[in-house]
Amino acid sequence: MILITGGCGYLGSHCAINLLERNTEICIVDNFSNSSIEILDKIKSISKKHFKFYQGDVRDKKFINALFLKKNIDAVIHFAGLKSVSESEKDPSEYFSNNITGTINIIELMKLNKINHFIFSSSATVYGNQHPPPWDEKLKLKSPTNPYAKSKFIIEEILRSFVIDNKEFRAGILRYFNPIGAHPSGLLGEEIHSGRNLVPAILNSLIHSDEYLSVYGNDYPTPDGSGIRDYIHVSDLIDGHLKALNYIKTNRGCHVWNLGSGNGYSVLQIIQVFESILKRKINFKFEGRRKGDLPEYWALINKAEKELNWSPRKSINDMVYDILNHLNKTRPNLKILKN
Ligand code: WQD
Repeated sequence: MILITGGCGYLGSHCAINLLERNTEICIVDNFSNSSIEILDKIKSISKKHFKFYQGDVRDKKFINALFLKKNIDAVIHFAGLKSVSESEKDPSEYFSNNITGTINIIELMKLNKINHFIFSSSATVYGNQHPPPWDEKLKLKSPTNPYAKSKFIIEEILRSFVIDNKEFRAGILRYFNPIGAHPSGLLGEEIHSGRNLVPAILNSLIHSDEYLSVYGNDYPTPDGSGIRDYIHVSDLIDGHLKALNYIKTNRGCHVWNLGSGNGYSVLQIIQVFESILKRKINFKFEGRRKGDLPEYWALINKAEKELNWSPRKSINDMVYDILNHLNKTRPNLKILKN
């Protein structure tokens, strides 16, 4: 059985569905800090499978240990954690507690209970602002400045030491670029109010006709002046997790892989993709650069392609179509998609 922490979140819920569809036994832990109980019904209705759910916090050692004792868990995919860079700057200790303490608890209790397979959600933010793109896993890292990225960087370091002392323990670290997209059923996707990322901001401008999208920066040294990122469909990202889990079953140690599409798209290009599917214009205005943003970055994904036999399948059009299909299903009165 696989434990998915944060299994009601945007990524965790997609992971749960994928595993259930492969008839893998799972149990989910979530404290609903950034998700809701309704997600459980959605996972059930899409997968048509049963699974166990436990409400609780990964920092609660008693709770997690009881779960490990009760269930026959042989791997943990650890999504639980806080994920907003700007929020982390306002409340660093909350980020360190949730992300670092939570992860240390899980791996220590895994060791105690002889559970040896661990997949960890890291982030491209660990590369900081020191390297020109594209970024590969061999780049030297130094501690990033924002607390969110720092929490991921520190956990990566902890995992590298942990496997040296615990030879049977294997860890797969996945550095996410910008996950977007939604489940093809349209039933599950990223919450619109979640954070201040580009996609929720675009959707807000579609929902509220009096609101416009702020495009942060038109003077970056990029072909059109707007920021470039590497967007990856959530289903490709999750596929990478399952392949990483398989890999560590036969390979000891601590391994790290970038999960991105390998391509960069600018904010203006993303807007154009939305407009072409919507068949209408998006209301936007240029604003100054957002503090802390980099001009451009994207991933080199050869390592995951080679070692995991993984490659992203979904195009940027697929990502945007699935996002709009989800919006169309959740807010039918908007009549977002014309056909
Ligand atoms: C993308 C581009 C913005 C909003 C990523 C992850 C995030 C986090 C850190 C995960 C940039 C521009 C955005 C808007 C805009 N954690 N933008 N108007 O900053 O690359 O963050 O790494 O590890 O979850 O997504 O993503 O979506 O905020 O921004 O013009 O209203 O869109 O300036 O160029 P970012 P993002």
